[in-house]
Amino acid sequence: MPSPTTFIIAQDNSRNVVVDGRGIAGQILCEQAGRVAELKKNGVTPGLAFVRVGEDPASKVYVGRKEKACAELGIFSEMHVLAEQATEGELLALIAKLNANPRLHGILVQAPLPKHISEAKIYSAVSPYKDVDGFHPLNVGKLMLGDSTGFCPCTPAGIVQLLARSNVTTEGAEVVILGRGNIVGKPMAAMLCQKGKNANATVTICHSATRDIQSHCRRADILIAAMGVANFVRADMVKPGATVIDVGVNRVGGKIVGDVDFAAVRQIAGKITPNPGGVGPMTIAMLMSNTVAAASQKN
Ligand code: GUN
Repeated sequence: MPSPTTFIIAQDNSRNVVVDGRGIAGQILCEQAGRVAELKKNGVTPGLAFVRVGEDPASKVYVGRKEKACAELGIFSEMHVLAEQATEGELLALIAKLNANPRLHGILVQAPLPKHISEAKIYSAVSPYKDVDGFHPLNVGKLMLGDSTGFCPCTPAGIVQLLARSNVTTEGAEVVILGRGNIVGKPMAAMLCQKGKNANATVTICHSATRDIQSHCRRADILIAAMGVANFVRADMVKPGATVIDVGVNRVGGKIVGDVDFAAVRQIAGKITPNPGGVGPMTIAMLMSNTVAAASQKN
Protein backbone atom coordinates (compact mmCIF):
# COMPACT_ATOMS: atom_id res chain seq x y z
CA MET A 1 0.00 0.00 0.00
CA PRO A 2 1.55 3.37 -0.94
CA SER A 3 1.88 5.97 1.77
CA PRO A 4 -0.06 9.18 1.10
CA THR A 5 3.25 10.93 0.44
CA THR A 6 3.69 8.77 -2.68
CA PHE A 7 1.52 11.28 -4.53
CA ILE A 8 2.26 14.91 -5.30
CA ILE A 9 -0.16 16.96 -3.25
CA ALA A 10 -1.52 20.19 -4.71
CA GLN A 11 -0.50 23.41 -3.10
CA ASP A 12 -3.07 26.21 -2.91
CA ASN A 13 -3.79 26.73 -6.61
CA SER A 14 -6.23 29.55 -6.17
CA ARG A 15 -3.76 32.37 -6.88
CA ASN A 16 -2.02 30.69 -9.78
CA VAL A 17 -2.93 31.11 -13.43
CA VAL A 18 -1.64 27.67 -14.37
CA VAL A 19 -3.85 24.96 -12.89
CA ASP A 20 -1.82 22.15 -11.32
CA GLY A 21 -3.58 19.09 -12.73
CA ARG A 22 -0.89 16.73 -11.46
CA GLY A 23 -1.18 18.06 -7.93
CA ILE A 24 -4.97 17.94 -7.86
CA ALA A 25 -4.92 14.41 -9.32
CA GLY A 26 -2.44 13.54 -6.55
CA GLN A 27 -4.99 14.68 -3.93
CA ILE A 28 -7.65 12.45 -5.48
CA LEU A 29 -5.30 9.47 -5.73
CA CYS A 30 -4.42 9.93 -2.09
CA GLU A 31 -8.12 9.87 -1.15
CA GLN A 32 -8.61 6.74 -3.24
CA ALA A 33 -5.60 5.00 -1.65
CA GLY A 34 -7.39 5.39 1.70
CA ARG A 35 -10.57 3.85 0.25
CA VAL A 36 -8.64 0.94 -1.27
CA ALA A 37 -7.08 0.25 2.16
CA GLU A 38 -10.56 0.26 3.74
CA LEU A 39 -11.91 -2.14 1.10
CA LYS A 40 -8.95 -4.47 1.63
CA LYS A 41 -9.59 -4.51 5.37
CA ASN A 42 -13.06 -5.79 4.47
CA GLY A 43 -11.60 -8.47 2.24
CA VAL A 44 -12.20 -6.74 -1.12
CA THR A 45 -9.30 -5.96 -3.47
CA PRO A 46 -10.55 -3.71 -6.28
CA GLY A 47 -9.79 -5.24 -9.69
CA LEU A 48 -9.65 -3.61 -13.12
CA ALA A 49 -9.18 -5.26 -16.53
CA PHE A 50 -7.64 -3.33 -19.41
CA VAL A 51 -8.33 -4.34 -22.99
CA ARG A 52 -6.30 -2.97 -25.86
CA VAL A 53 -6.83 -3.95 -29.51
CA GLY A 54 -3.86 -3.39 -31.81
CA GLU A 55 -0.60 -1.55 -31.24
CA ASP A 56 -1.59 2.14 -31.42
CA PRO A 57 1.40 3.83 -29.71
CA ALA A 58 -0.72 6.50 -27.94
CA SER A 59 -3.13 3.87 -26.56
CA LYS A 60 -0.15 1.86 -25.28
CA VAL A 61 1.13 4.91 -23.39
CA TYR A 62 -2.29 5.79 -21.92
CA VAL A 63 -3.10 2.26 -20.79
CA GLY A 64 0.41 1.92 -19.35
CA ARG A 65 -0.18 5.03 -17.19
CA LYS A 66 -3.52 3.68 -15.99
CA GLU A 67 -1.90 0.34 -15.06
CA LYS A 68 0.82 2.15 -13.13
CA ALA A 69 -1.79 4.11 -11.15
CA CYS A 70 -3.51 0.81 -10.22
CA ALA A 71 -0.21 -0.63 -8.98
CA GLU A 72 0.48 2.49 -6.89
CA LEU A 73 -2.95 2.36 -5.25
CA GLY A 74 -2.96 -1.39 -4.61
CA ILE A 75 -5.68 -2.06 -7.20
CA PHE A 76 -5.35 -5.45 -8.88
CA SER A 77 -5.18 -5.09 -12.66
CA GLU A 78 -4.79 -7.36 -15.66
CA MET A 79 -4.03 -6.47 -19.25
CA HIS A 80 -5.56 -8.13 -22.33
CA VAL A 81 -4.10 -7.34 -25.74
CA LEU A 82 -5.81 -8.48 -28.94
CA ALA A 83 -4.27 -8.25 -32.41
CA GLU A 84 -5.36 -5.39 -34.70
CA GLN A 85 -7.12 -8.02 -36.89
CA ALA A 86 -9.11 -9.52 -34.00
CA THR A 87 -12.80 -9.85 -34.84
CA GLU A 88 -15.67 -8.16 -33.07
CA GLY A 89 -16.80 -11.64 -31.96
CA GLU A 90 -13.43 -12.34 -30.32
CA LEU A 91 -13.57 -9.07 -28.43
CA LEU A 92 -17.18 -9.71 -27.36
CA ALA A 93 -16.18 -13.18 -26.11
CA LEU A 94 -13.36 -11.67 -24.03
CA ILE A 95 -15.73 -9.05 -22.55
CA ALA A 96 -18.22 -11.80 -21.61
CA LYS A 97 -15.41 -13.59 -19.73
CA LEU A 98 -14.37 -10.42 -17.91
CA ASN A 99 -17.99 -9.60 -17.03
CA ALA A 100 -18.27 -13.01 -15.36
CA ASN A 101 -15.00 -12.75 -13.39
CA PRO A 102 -15.77 -11.81 -9.76
CA ARG A 103 -12.18 -10.58 -9.13
CA LEU A 104 -12.81 -7.77 -11.62
CA HIS A 105 -14.90 -4.76 -10.63
CA GLY A 106 -14.04 -2.64 -13.68
CA ILE A 107 -13.41 -3.20 -17.39
CA LEU A 108 -11.77 -0.62 -19.64
CA VAL A 109 -11.63 -1.13 -23.40
CA GLN A 110 -9.26 1.54 -24.69
CA ALA A 111 -10.58 3.66 -27.58
CA PRO A 112 -10.14 4.06 -30.46
CA LEU A 113 -10.92 0.55 -31.67
CA PRO A 114 -10.04 -0.65 -35.20
CA LYS A 115 -12.59 0.49 -37.82
CA HIS A 116 -14.05 -3.02 -38.35
CA ILE A 117 -15.21 -3.17 -34.71
CA SER A 118 -18.33 -1.27 -33.62
CA GLU A 119 -17.50 0.77 -30.51
CA ALA A 120 -21.23 1.07 -29.75
CA LYS A 121 -21.60 -2.73 -29.71
CA ILE A 122 -18.51 -3.20 -27.56
CA TYR A 123 -19.39 -0.56 -24.95
CA SER A 124 -22.94 -1.95 -24.73
CA ALA A 125 -21.51 -5.41 -24.00
CA VAL A 126 -19.51 -4.33 -20.93
CA SER A 127 -21.57 -4.89 -17.77
CA PRO A 128 -22.95 -1.46 -16.77
CA TYR A 129 -21.82 -2.28 -13.19
CA LYS A 130 -18.21 -2.73 -14.37
CA ASP A 131 -18.35 0.18 -16.83
CA VAL A 132 -15.75 2.41 -15.15
CA ASP A 133 -15.51 4.42 -18.40
CA GLY A 134 -19.18 5.43 -18.21
CA PHE A 135 -19.67 4.54 -21.89
CA HIS A 136 -22.51 1.96 -21.52
CA PRO A 137 -25.91 3.33 -22.69
CA LEU A 138 -27.36 2.76 -19.19
CA ASN A 139 -24.69 4.99 -17.64
CA VAL A 140 -24.98 7.56 -20.45
CA GLY A 141 -28.75 7.62 -19.79
CA LYS A 142 -28.27 8.00 -16.03
CA LEU A 143 -25.93 10.93 -16.66
CA MET A 144 -28.54 12.62 -18.86
CA LEU A 145 -31.22 12.05 -16.18
CA GLY A 146 -29.04 13.39 -13.37
CA ASP A 147 -29.05 9.97 -11.66
CA SER A 148 -25.80 9.85 -9.70
CA THR A 149 -25.85 6.03 -9.27
CA GLY A 150 -24.17 5.55 -12.66
CA PHE A 151 -20.53 5.90 -13.74
CA CYS A 152 -19.45 9.18 -15.39
CA PRO A 153 -16.81 9.31 -18.15
CA CYS A 154 -13.41 9.98 -16.59
CA THR A 155 -12.16 12.99 -18.57
CA PRO A 156 -15.20 15.24 -18.09
CA ALA A 157 -15.55 14.05 -14.47
CA GLY A 158 -11.90 15.02 -13.99
CA ILE A 159 -12.55 18.47 -15.44
CA VAL A 160 -15.46 18.99 -13.00
CA GLN A 161 -13.06 18.14 -10.14
CA LEU A 162 -10.31 20.33 -11.59
CA LEU A 163 -12.69 23.33 -11.70
CA ALA A 164 -14.13 22.67 -8.23
CA ARG A 165 -10.74 22.18 -6.59
CA SER A 166 -9.31 25.29 -8.28
CA ASN A 167 -12.20 27.41 -6.96
CA VAL A 168 -13.69 28.09 -10.40
CA THR A 169 -17.43 28.71 -10.04
CA THR A 170 -19.63 26.96 -12.57
CA GLU A 171 -22.94 28.24 -11.13
CA GLY A 172 -24.40 30.59 -13.76
CA ALA A 173 -21.15 30.55 -15.77
CA GLU A 174 -21.13 30.67 -19.57
CA VAL A 175 -19.34 27.46 -20.56
CA VAL A 176 -18.32 26.90 -24.17
CA ILE A 177 -17.20 23.39 -25.15
CA LEU A 178 -15.33 22.89 -28.42
CA GLY A 179 -16.06 19.35 -29.65
CA ARG A 180 -19.08 17.05 -29.45
CA GLY A 181 -17.45 13.65 -29.00
CA ASN A 182 -18.94 10.89 -26.84
CA ILE A 183 -15.86 10.71 -24.57
CA VAL A 184 -15.55 14.41 -23.68
CA GLY A 185 -17.78 17.02 -25.37
CA LYS A 186 -21.26 15.54 -24.94
CA PRO A 187 -20.86 14.15 -21.38
CA MET A 188 -19.07 17.36 -20.35
CA ALA A 189 -22.10 19.39 -21.45
CA ALA A 190 -24.48 17.04 -19.62
CA MET A 191 -22.49 17.31 -16.38
CA LEU A 192 -22.11 21.07 -16.35
CA CYS A 193 -25.72 21.93 -17.23
CA GLN A 194 -27.07 19.59 -14.51
CA LYS A 195 -28.96 21.14 -11.64
CA GLY A 196 -26.69 20.88 -8.61
CA LYS A 197 -23.28 21.42 -7.07
CA ASN A 198 -20.30 22.01 -9.38
CA ALA A 199 -22.74 22.41 -12.27
CA ASN A 200 -25.63 24.84 -13.01
CA ALA A 201 -23.75 26.37 -15.94
CA THR A 202 -25.12 27.71 -19.22
CA VAL A 203 -23.52 25.42 -21.79
CA THR A 204 -22.84 25.85 -25.50
CA ILE A 205 -21.31 23.08 -27.61
CA CYS A 206 -19.45 24.20 -30.74
CA HIS A 207 -18.53 21.79 -33.53
CA SER A 208 -17.47 21.65 -37.17
CA ALA A 209 -20.78 23.14 -38.41
CA THR A 210 -20.86 26.00 -35.88
CA ARG A 211 -20.93 29.46 -37.47
CA ASP A 212 -18.42 31.93 -36.02
CA ILE A 213 -16.83 29.76 -33.32
CA GLN A 214 -14.65 32.72 -32.33
CA SER A 215 -17.57 34.81 -31.11
CA HIS A 216 -18.86 31.91 -28.99
CA CYS A 217 -15.39 31.44 -27.48
CA ARG A 218 -15.06 35.14 -26.65
CA ARG A 219 -18.11 35.11 -24.39
CA ALA A 220 -17.04 32.04 -22.40
CA ASP A 221 -16.28 32.29 -18.70
CA ILE A 222 -15.03 28.70 -19.00
CA LEU A 223 -13.70 27.50 -22.35
CA ILE A 224 -13.13 23.75 -22.76
CA ALA A 225 -11.21 22.76 -25.90
CA ALA A 226 -11.72 19.12 -26.90
CA MET A 227 -11.77 19.21 -30.67
CA GLY A 228 -8.37 17.77 -31.56
CA VAL A 229 -6.99 20.68 -33.59
CA ALA A 230 -3.50 21.76 -32.52
CA ASN A 231 -3.30 25.32 -31.14
CA PHE A 232 -6.84 26.14 -32.31
CA VAL A 233 -7.63 28.49 -29.41
CA ARG A 234 -5.69 31.73 -29.87
CA ALA A 235 -5.39 34.62 -27.43
CA ASP A 236 -7.88 36.80 -29.33
CA MET A 237 -10.57 34.12 -28.84
CA VAL A 238 -10.42 34.28 -25.04
CA LYS A 239 -12.21 36.69 -22.72
CA PRO A 240 -9.75 38.26 -20.26
CA GLY A 241 -9.89 36.36 -16.97
CA ALA A 242 -11.62 33.29 -18.43
CA THR A 243 -10.75 29.74 -17.37
CA VAL A 244 -9.34 27.71 -20.27
CA ILE A 245 -9.24 23.90 -20.13
CA ASP A 246 -7.17 22.14 -22.80
CA VAL A 247 -8.19 18.52 -23.46
CA GLY A 248 -6.42 18.25 -26.83
CA VAL A 249 -3.67 15.72 -27.48
CA ASN A 250 -2.28 16.35 -30.97
CA ARG A 251 0.95 14.95 -32.36
CA VAL A 252 2.81 17.66 -34.29
CA GLY A 253 6.31 16.80 -35.54
CA GLY A 254 6.86 14.22 -32.79
CA LYS A 255 5.67 16.63 -30.06
CA ILE A 256 2.36 16.61 -28.15
CA VAL A 257 0.48 19.87 -28.64
CA GLY A 258 -2.85 20.81 -27.09
CA ASP A 259 -5.86 22.52 -28.68
CA VAL A 260 -4.84 25.79 -26.97
CA ASP A 261 -1.96 28.10 -27.86
CA PHE A 262 -0.75 27.94 -24.24
CA ALA A 263 2.03 30.55 -24.36
CA ALA A 264 -0.26 33.25 -25.77
CA VAL A 265 -3.50 32.33 -23.98
CA ARG A 266 -1.92 32.20 -20.51
CA GLN A 267 -1.31 35.96 -20.81
CA ILE A 268 -5.08 36.54 -21.11
CA ALA A 269 -6.69 33.72 -19.11
CA GLY A 270 -7.56 33.86 -15.43
CA LYS A 271 -6.72 30.17 -15.19
CA ILE A 272 -5.40 27.71 -17.77
CA THR A 273 -4.49 24.03 -17.73
CA PRO A 274 -1.00 23.09 -18.92
CA ASN A 275 -0.71 20.31 -21.44
CA PRO A 276 0.69 17.86 -20.44
CA GLY A 277 0.07 18.04 -16.69
CA GLY A 278 -3.50 19.37 -16.76
CA VAL A 279 -6.44 17.20 -17.77
CA GLY A 280 -4.50 13.95 -18.47
CA PRO A 281 -3.64 13.09 -14.85
CA MET A 282 -7.24 13.91 -13.83
CA THR A 283 -8.60 11.30 -16.26
CA ILE A 284 -6.49 8.64 -14.55
CA ALA A 285 -7.46 9.82 -11.06
CA MET A 286 -11.17 9.59 -11.94
CA LEU A 287 -10.67 6.11 -13.42
CA MET A 288 -9.23 5.04 -10.08
CA SER A 289 -12.16 6.70 -8.29
CA ASN A 290 -14.69 4.91 -10.52
CA THR A 291 -12.91 1.58 -9.96
CA VAL A 292 -13.03 2.04 -6.19
CA ALA A 293 -16.74 2.95 -6.49
CA ALA A 294 -17.32 -0.20 -8.58
CA ALA A 295 -15.62 -2.34 -5.95
CA SER A 296 -17.69 -0.68 -3.21
CA GLN A 297 -21.09 -1.33 -4.79
CA LYS A 298 -23.32 -4.16 -3.66
CA ASN A 299 -25.13 -5.87 -6.54
N1 GUN B 1 -9.53 6.91 -25.27
C1 GUN B 1 -9.38 8.21 -24.97
N2 GUN B 1 -9.92 8.50 -23.77
C2 GUN B 1 -10.43 7.34 -23.29
C3 GUN B 1 -11.12 6.99 -22.09
O1 GUN B 1 -11.38 7.82 -21.20
N3 GUN B 1 -11.47 5.68 -21.98
C4 GUN B 1 -11.21 4.75 -22.95
N4 GUN B 1 -11.62 3.51 -22.76
N5 GUN B 1 -10.58 5.05 -24.08
C5 GUN B 1 -10.18 6.34 -24.24
